[in-house]
Amino acid sequence: MAKQEDQFKKVISHAKEYGYVFQSSEIYDGLSAVYDYAQNGIELKKNIRDYWWKAMVQLNENIVGLDSAIFMHPTTWKASGHVDAFNDPMIDNKDSKKRYRADVLVEDYVGKIDTKIEKEIKKAAKRFGEAFNEEEFVATNKRVLDYKAKQEQILKRLGESLTNEDLEDVKALIEELGIACPLSGSKNWTEVKQFNLMFGTKLGASADSAMDLYLRPETAQGIFVNFLNVQKTSRMKIPFGIAQTGKAFRNEIVARQFIFRMREFEQMEMQFFVRPGEQKKWYDTWKENRLNWHLSLGLGKENYRFHDHEKLAHYADAAADIEFKFPFGFKELEGIHSRTDFDLKAHEEHSGKKLQYFDNEINEKYTPYVVETSVGLDRLFLAIFSNSLQEETLEDGSERTVLRLPAVIAPYKAAVLPLVKKDGLPEIAHKIIDDLKFDFNVMYDEKDAIGRRYRRQDANGTPFCITVDHDTLNDNTVTIRHRDTMEQKRVPISELRSIIDDEVSMRKWLQKI
Ligand code: GAP
Repeated sequence: MAKQEDQFKKVISHAKEYGYVFQSSEIYDGLSAVYDYAQNGIELKKNIRDYWWKAMVQLNENIVGLDSAIFMHPTTWKASGHVDAFNDPMIDNKDSKKRYRADVLVEDYVGKIDTKIEKEIKKAAKRFGEAFNEEEFVATNKRVLDYKAKQEQILKRLGESLTNEDLEDVKALIEELGIACPLSGSKNWTEVKQFNLMFGTKLGASADSAMDLYLRPETAQGIFVNFLNVQKTSRMKIPFGIAQTGKAFRNEIVARQFIFRMREFEQMEMQFFVRPGEQKKWYDTWKENRLNWHLSLGLGKENYRFHDHEKLAHYADAAADIEFKFPFGFKELEGIHSRTDFDLKAHEEHSGKKLQYFDNEINEKYTPYVVETSVGLDRLFLAIFSNSLQEETLEDGSERTVLRLPAVIAPYKAAVLPLVKKDGLPEIAHKIIDDLKFDFNVMYDEKDAIGRRYRRQDANGTPFCITVDHDTLNDNTVTIRHRDTMEQKRVPISELRSIIDDEVSMRKWLQKI
């Protein structure tokens, strides 16, 4: 546990030190759970967003984009159910005065059982050596099976209590499991209460004419209310999708874990409109598609898993999370939800306008069903960044910190380094940049000894370093060094573009999906 915490602290301080993520309003001691993306962070974030957008919109003939406003008519949120049901169950510890999400306390307890299971597996692997079969062990070992049964039983009870709004039972569960306040160790809890997560604001200047608004808690509703406008103007036929990226706001009770849970964050959502009755097929398809998209980034298959929901949101007939192994354990990264016709029907009812589609293949008019994919851009950033940050011991015994970001989304694709700041080498370096910059984000770096510059670029996540030295003056060649292998090659300047492109081209990465 301490190791996990140390690793996570390293992630946060590296993100700051290398210009990825800063605390918002830091000079005023910061604003809780609000963050700013710095010069490298914004490039990484933009590249992740582009990678998603290309995979969803550009590569799918039947998906189009949208950028709807953050402010929406307040009835939107009545119709969507957010005014009445977008709540988190919260509980306060009477001694530490700290507030927690009751369901998260229970889920964290269940997460700790995972650690116990992992310990059993490690112990057995040591005992059996080469003959160890993990799959068989997990499926048959009594202790592991007991742990799993306990996890299942707890989550089932939690799911049922939340679905039935039985908050007394949620508190009873916390007490029965002996869950203590992580800060104080105290088990002195208040009752569990519901807390609405939407931020309110006002539209208009004068107090009596001002209209109460909410900052959108999800981008999805902007897609629903535009469904018919987009369908008609794009002449899309069902099944088709609308994709959107943008800010969402939630007054999270427990806003910790850096950019994992923020009060202002960005979502990348896609609503796929389908014929009623076909939602299960599309739900399965999108679960698979989205997992494959994540896997294409190469962070390791073992770091992802599905978690099918026991407790379904008010709008869903099936839902699953793609979970990722963050430094603090497996947690939700993306949600895939079969939202039925709940949202479109609700907007029809509240607006009095029909949101129906005439399907001329079956000669029928209906309100489409919707399968949604929804991923947090900041959370994805954290998954990629934390997984990429690695410490290595090299052959000569020295240590290096390397940020092995997938090359396709790295903020800078190459750094051009003149060996010395004289003899015309900086001028050649700038000329190389002037050519490469039309295709790639490239940086110039002349400060410090070349070894230190390599290490700095490794820690910055830059896939290539290009060194201009005195031989370059004679033969127009440079040394290109690969971040991950540290291999160095002498190549003609004229080949740089294709060498870099080979590794970072979005086309090649997207073709892996
Ligand atoms: N439209 C469906 C929806 O919003 P959600 O499961 O509440 O579903 C989808 O959110 C995704 O948005 C999550 O899987 C997560 O990646 C991201 N997300 C949600 N709340 C967040 C927060 N407070 N901070 C950062 N990301 C968040």
